[in-house]
Amino acid sequence: MIRSVVLGCGGYLPEKKVTNKDLEQIMETSDDWIVERTGIRQRYFAAEGQYTSDLAIEASRQALANAGLDASEIDLVIVGTTTPDRTFPAVATRVQAALGAVPGSPAFDVQAVCSGFLYALGAADSMLRNGMAKNALVIGAETLSRILDFEDRTTAVLFGDGAGAVVLQARESRGGLEDPGVISVHLHADGRYNDILNTDGGVSMTRTAGSVRMLGKEVFRHAVVNLHDVLLETLKANGLTAQDVDWVVPHQANLRIIEGTVKRLGLDMSQVICTIDRHANTSAASVPLALADGMASGLVKPGQLVLLEAMGGGLTWGGALVRL
Ligand code: UT7
Repeated sequence: MIRSVVLGCGGYLPEKKVTNKDLEQIMETSDDWIVERTGIRQRYFAAEGQYTSDLAIEASRQALANAGLDASEIDLVIVGTTTPDRTFPAVATRVQAALGAVPGSPAFDVQAVCSGFLYALGAADSMLRNGMAKNALVIGAETLSRILDFEDRTTAVLFGDGAGAVVLQARESRGGLEDPGVISVHLHADGRYNDILNTDGGVSMTRTAGSVRMLGKEVFRHAVVNLHDVLLETLKANGLTAQDVDWVVPHQANLRIIEGTVKRLGLDMSQVICTIDRHANTSAASVPLALADGMASGLVKPGQLVLLEAMGGGLTWGGALVRL
């Protein structure tokens, strides 16, 4: 069988660091409230003129260097993003051209908000296993700061900008749990909950991008249930229990959600890659950024079994099991 093997990982954060104290200067909030309710201490915002594709390109360069693969070998680019440079063309096409990936090979964006990387991973994995490409760049990249309303303290303190990228290669595999690669991806959506997390405008509706709006408590309630369910589904599909996994790399939306999910699985926080304090919620970038961070720090090692999860607007959510 063919499996999509992770060759390398990369992450990129823009230079401008914005602390909770900085936000205190522009809105009615406090470092104490933000840390206690979310675990966030700081986030990064892209500079004027720095676009989602710029972040994606930087993360991809790192991932390619880490993979030891030349960009000219990449014949599939998928970007999970909610904040593309322009309405069209796709960020992925700019990444393809800027890196010098194979001209004419497929490149497209996936819109699944905070679950965007999981959806992109699922799409890339299917395409690689079907022989549609050999080497894929799977990216989550966002400039969420561009769609924040800084008069809405209930959302503006939660998000940040960044990008994470993974290089996948289609390889012959025995397909066992010990063999490297993407073992399974599990994706879900429930459009009945469009209204609890969205933007208050968009291209077709208002001819603008709109700003993030969220019923935080409602989303929190769904996150705790959906993430638990999808983690169990992913483990069960592979005949595993949480104890068989080396690391959980969760979506970084709220430390309380992460802690609650991990505790219910019977795991310890020492098995979780947590970047929320430094990165805040970078939407589709959050999972690959956390993975890249875990690998760069030496915590997450080649050969280990990693469980990924995310949930976002839609609602969308997903889980994946990967042997690095
Ligand atoms: O990435 C997609 C998935 N997203 C998520 O999973 C996010 C899920 N939701 C959450 O993480 C949490 O619901 C929040 C962090 C957004 C909010 O935490 P909460 O504990 O649910 O707080 P709350 O919305 O119930 O607000 C509590 C109080 C309110 O004041 P009153 O009504 O009790 O007087 C808010 O007005 O906190 C107030 N508040 C703030 N105070 C200071 C809301 N935002 C702020 C703020 N600073 N930034």
